[in-house]
Amino acid sequence: MAEQWNPAQYERFKSERAQPFYDLLSLVRPASQMRVVDLGCGTGELTRELHLRLGAAQTVGIDSSQAMLELSKAFSSPGLSFQLRDIGELEGRWDLVFSNAALQWLPDHPALFGQLFEAAAERGQLAVQLPANQDQPSHLVASEVAAEPPFAEALIGRPRQSSVLAPEAYAALLHRVGFREQQVHLLVYGHLLDSREEVVEWVKGTLLTDYQRRLPPELFPSFLSRYRERLMPRLEDQRPFFFPFKRLLLWARR
Ligand SMILES: C[S@@+](CC[C@H](N)C(=O)[O-])C[C@H]1O[C@@H](n2cnc3c(N)ncnc32)[C@H](O)[C@@H]1O
Repeated sequence: MAEQWNPAQYERFKSERAQPFYDLLSLVRPASQMRVVDLGCGTGELTRELHLRLGAAQTVGIDSSQAMLELSKAFSSPGLSFQLRDIGELEGRWDLVFSNAALQWLPDHPALFGQLFEAAAERGQLAVQLPANQDQPSHLVASEVAAEPPFAEALIGRPRQSSVLAPEAYAALLHRVGFREQQVHLLVYGHLLDSREEVVEWVKGTLLTDYQRRLPPELFPSFLSRYRERLMPRLEDQRPFFFPFKRLLLWARR
């Protein structure tokens, strides 16, 4: 399948996407000589920030996208490295298992969080940030368009279903897999975009990459225009456009 991530599109809203990272980082309890893994590290720029702010002994960023990891080369330094690897193939035990805006791409969170618990060392921490907008127009319209002809017939794989759970389900899950301490926060970030059209640009860098990957290249432009056509009437026509964006911030310790 074609490469899914387009770093340039993703980086268009870089500052808006960075704030939740810092909010997540603020939940982490620093300790000396930490060994840290950053799951779905992307370009690695925020992984370097994580490494430096924690004064970690060792930080490893892992990501399955060659295009994203290509950019991470600029951030490697002693103690900070990057690996092309799937999160499902995570090895070792870590003082901090960190993941900013990546685990929403993985299925079966009950099983996944069991693996993340196993990856945390004794008294190790888990810190995860996930977008949680599956009930918002930006996401609902994508599923609706994907169910229409000719997209429904052409889409490779099954219709996309969000794997993101409700906040209280994560609280129960963190407890069930064995974490002794936890915090679960649902935060709403308000982003001021120039216009409602910018919502399409935002989603093009994230959710819609999945449809782009699974549709024949010649169909994606018409998918996008149908998406725009159905989405615009569901968003207020205001300039600037206020875009509320929900995110879950999870922290836990063994
Ligand atoms: C939205 S980006 C976030 C990047 C970075 N954490 C940040 O905050 O800027 C999500 C990243 O997760 C990676 N990713 C998605 N599924 C993955 C998987 N199964 N294994 C490894 N990386 C994955 C993507 O390649 C992408 O770089």
